[in-house]
Amino acid sequence: MTETKSIEDLPGVGHSVAEKLREAGFHNIEAVAVASPGDLAGVIDGIGESTAAKIIAAARQAANVGGFETGSQILERRKLVGKLTTGSSSLDELLGGGVETQAITEFYGEFGSGKTQMALQLAVNAQLPKSKQGFEGSVIWIDSENTFRPERFVQIAEARNLEPDEVLQNLHVARALNANHQILLVEKSLEKAQELRETDRPVRLLVVDSVTSHFRSEFLGRGTLADRQQKLNKHLHDLIRFSDIHNAAIMVTNQVQSRPDVFFGDPTRPIGGHVMAHTATFRIYLRKSKGEKRIARLVDSPSLPEGEAVFSVSEAGIGD
Ligand SMILES: Nc1ncnc2c1ncn2[C@@H]1O[C@H](COP(=O)(O)OP(=O)(O)O)[C@@H](O)[C@H]1O
Ligand SMILES: [Mg+2]
Repeated sequence: MTETKSIEDLPGVGHSVAEKLREAGFHNIEAVAVASPGDLAGVIDGIGESTAAKIIAAARQAANVGGFETGSQILERRKLVGKLTTGSSSLDELLGGGVETQAITEFYGEFGSGKTQMALQLAVNAQLPKSKQGFEGSVIWIDSENTFRPERFVQIAEARNLEPDEVLQNLHVARALNANHQILLVEKSLEKAQELRETDRPVRLLVVDSVTSHFRSEFLGRGTLADRQQKLNKHLHDLIRFSDIHNAAIMVTNQVQSRPDVFFGDPTRPIGGHVMAHTATFRIYLRKSKGEKRIARLVDSPSLPEGEAVFSVSEAGIGD
């Protein structure tokens, strides 16, 4: 997506509407283009859904989203896809080079399998120079389990010869208090990323650790499952929107639950059902092995074969 115009250039959007859109987190044409009429009508006084729909249609045309693209246009956009090293060369290889931008990469596994350590390592690596397979960018971290530890982050950064003060400065952490708050924090993340967009440290990675825990604990019982899935679906699509607008990688962690009905093979499965399964672009299952050893299994990917890689979690972070 190219950004040539500002939202004031859209028909029906004057100065004051543009201001209100910005206040609500719609900073550019791309953000308006992927909104729903209800989203816009809800935040701007005096604008009904039909006017909102017209503004969105104009934004879609200007940003060329929602319509057809030729194969070569898609290929052109795909050329912008960045790949971030995980710190393990065998895992990078399994992922076709690393964790991709314009996609959601989900790491799921049991407690202690290394999901948060992987997220910390990626948050460090996203700040590495491009010559070291990094993004030279900033990172946003949404913490829903209260397990983010700056001390551990610094330890991993120092192992890569990065300056602790600098890496901490380029990491923006927010604690999600509940599912609604978590959804709101993606809007806030869009604002933060917009702020940093033209700086030398644009946001290139957004971590959500973990993406499902609040949804799981707030919506208990069969009757609330549909509500939960609807909300989770919105949340995941907000994340995709973020990855598209900012050409950023989205790394989410997910817990597993055990299936009482499985007697053979692995009885655990990730939370989030079909919604999670269909929205994550890459799914990686992490398992503990002996000591520092961990096994990553690529379970789902649009163009890569399934497979496994062995990596380690040590004091220095993720390695081979
Ligand atoms: N400072 C450290 N040095 C070595 N290993 C560590 C360190 N911190 C965490 N680990 C390893 O990471 C594991 C926890 O992984 P974590 O990513 O927090 O799990 P989860 O999948 O539950 O998020 C610990 O059990 C330990 O093996
Ligand atoms: Mg964790």
